[in-house]
Amino acid sequence: MPTIESVLHETRVFPPATAFASQSNIPSMQAYQALCAEAEQDFRKFWAERANAHILWHRPFTQILNDQEAPFYQWFTDGVLNVSYNCLDRHLATQADKVAIIFESDDGQVTRSTYRDLHRRVCQFANALKAQNIRKGDRVVIYMPMRIEAVIAMQACARLGVIHSVVFGGFSAKSLHERIVDAGAVAVITADEQVRGGKHHPLKATVDEAIGISDTATVRRTIVFQRTGASVPFDPARDVWWDEITRDISADCEPEWVAAEHPLFTLYTSGSTGKPKGVQHSSAGYLLGTMISMQWIFDYHPNDIFWCTADVGWITGHSYVAYGPLALGATQVIYEGIPTHPHPGRFWEIIQKHRVTTFYTAPTAIRSLIKSGADLPDQYDLSSLRLLGSVGEPINPEAWIWFYQKIGRSRCPIVDTWWQTETGCHMIAPAPGAVALKPGSCTFPLPGIFAAVVDEAGHDVEQGKGGFLVIKKPFPSQIRTLWGDPERFKRTYFPEDIAGGQYYLAGDSAYRDADGYFWIMGRIDDVLNVSGHRLGTMEIESALVAHPLVAEAAVVGKPHPVKGEAVTAFVVLKGPRPQGEAAAQISDTLREWVTKEIGPIAKPDEIRFGENLPKTRSGKIMRRLLRALAKGEEITQDISTLENPAILEQLKQPSA
Ligand code: PRX
Repeated sequence: MPTIESVLHETRVFPPATAFASQSNIPSMQAYQALCAEAEQDFRKFWAERANAHILWHRPFTQILNDQEAPFYQWFTDGVLNVSYNCLDRHLATQADKVAIIFESDDGQVTRSTYRDLHRRVCQFANALKAQNIRKGDRVVIYMPMRIEAVIAMQACARLGVIHSVVFGGFSAKSLHERIVDAGAVAVITADEQVRGGKHHPLKATVDEAIGISDTATVRRTIVFQRTGASVPFDPARDVWWDEITRDISADCEPEWVAAEHPLFTLYTSGSTGKPKGVQHSSAGYLLGTMISMQWIFDYHPNDIFWCTADVGWITGHSYVAYGPLALGATQVIYEGIPTHPHPGRFWEIIQKHRVTTFYTAPTAIRSLIKSGADLPDQYDLSSLRLLGSVGEPINPEAWIWFYQKIGRSRCPIVDTWWQTETGCHMIAPAPGAVALKPGSCTFPLPGIFAAVVDEAGHDVEQGKGGFLVIKKPFPSQIRTLWGDPERFKRTYFPEDIAGGQYYLAGDSAYRDADGYFWIMGRIDDVLNVSGHRLGTMEIESALVAHPLVAEAAVVGKPHPVKGEAVTAFVVLKGPRPQGEAAAQISDTLREWVTKEIGPIAKPDEIRFGENLPKTRSGKIMRRLLRALAKGEEITQDISTLENPAILEQLKQPSA
């Protein structure tokens, strides 16, 4: 199992400062333990009480958990609610004029929207969707820049019970097409272009290309927000402008009341096969998860200025941009651009300018910012910060310490939050007023989350030993199924061969130390984590073999100082093995090809060519050897089962 070696030597412990703890929502270890004990005693009652306290129900639930058809769990089943009502309308009586979103565009223009403004725009856009005949249960794909309008589109769908599926704006036409088809989307909401780091990137043209590929007859409408005003192809039979359909439209829109289990959204993520999985979330359970974690882990206070840097195309941008902060009535920053434009201090400038109190980002961003100016933060006033957060991959202690000292000025706790697209909200993360931090560890599960590290039989493994990270009891915010593929859902997350299929299998390995802290070791499946984004090796392999020159391909991850992991591809061509200049040329072609097939995040850093791949006598590719080769390690492993040992020599060196 992959280990995070440097972490093993990290022994520093950072207990919560008294001043921080005394004001926090879980103010001590005793308070945290009391919540855990309460959940331990009766986890159904524990969650029911929280669901009643946090969610505004249109009709209250009487049934807490339906586990008749496990693992297809249902929570608060007969309750009726609307998520958008819970995020917007609930604040109108008490804080309509509070700023909900401070939006900073790529070029630095700032717009402030109050809860009243946001509610009005969401209602208008929802009415516009209705006028386009989009109804409860329909699926709509959102392919938007990181702007208020993306949140409006998501909230408007939620208001109507329309199931959104946001596709990250960096995905290619092919990836977008695959998701539109799988979801059976009736409409796509997009923009003419997106602007990041001063550069314009097409969105509408990509949507057209995606729809043009085939099988997208379900798409009746594309709704186009004009971000730049660039001239884009426009098909009057299918396309409408955002501005036109929302002009002069009523801002009165009664929410569509839906059952607790009504799907709020699907979000595609990579797994160990070539086909992305449509992770389906519920309305009530998901909402509760985002709200409770905002309270416990982000220690939300009404005067916070919250900034989560994730794009709405990822789960983090769903839970901690589009839903969680709004449900709590928070003020949050949304930033359209990239961390380093027009200068590498942009993030710190934004924190200074908007007096951000809570800053949540990914280790890869932290590492790249260290690289582009380790002392740059010194030039900014970061005194507004009180809490930092990290998500997406294990944070290495060096990055942790830098983040702690340079950004938090050794005053702010760092919440290292372990969770997944499938879990909807934080699962293992410190309650910052209670838990002493250890750099590199996500510490302890949230109260009510029964996380454990087990062996195949489902027994807890010994302290210090690696094992499968599982969650033993159902929890409200968990994935309900995979869109259109319940069998794959069961097979992937509740596989028979691990603990008899009774626990939620996260797909990560982990261990616990002598104090019971959880340390995440990495994925146990063929999933890579590149810059905090999940990529299936099979997806990239299928893209490579789809190229006419390629006969066979295997993809592995290689440790990378900024990205965490980098994609390394081993390729066998149909023709002779290229060398020198020819290898460099084909390498470039294939890298471009993968960018076009999947998106720039999947582009291999390195491609090596062989006449064959290392295989066992039964024909199975020996990935562990490829991983060692990618890292440049000497092969010390047993290669007696290897069919063709000479191949290793060819694959040792970069081809170009
Ligand atoms: O391997 C774990 C890693 O990211 C995976 C989930 O990826 P995704 O669904 O894209 O969601 C990312 C944002 C929640 C996990 O299975 N991961 C996520 N957070 C951490 C992490 N690994 C270590 N520490 C974390 N804090």
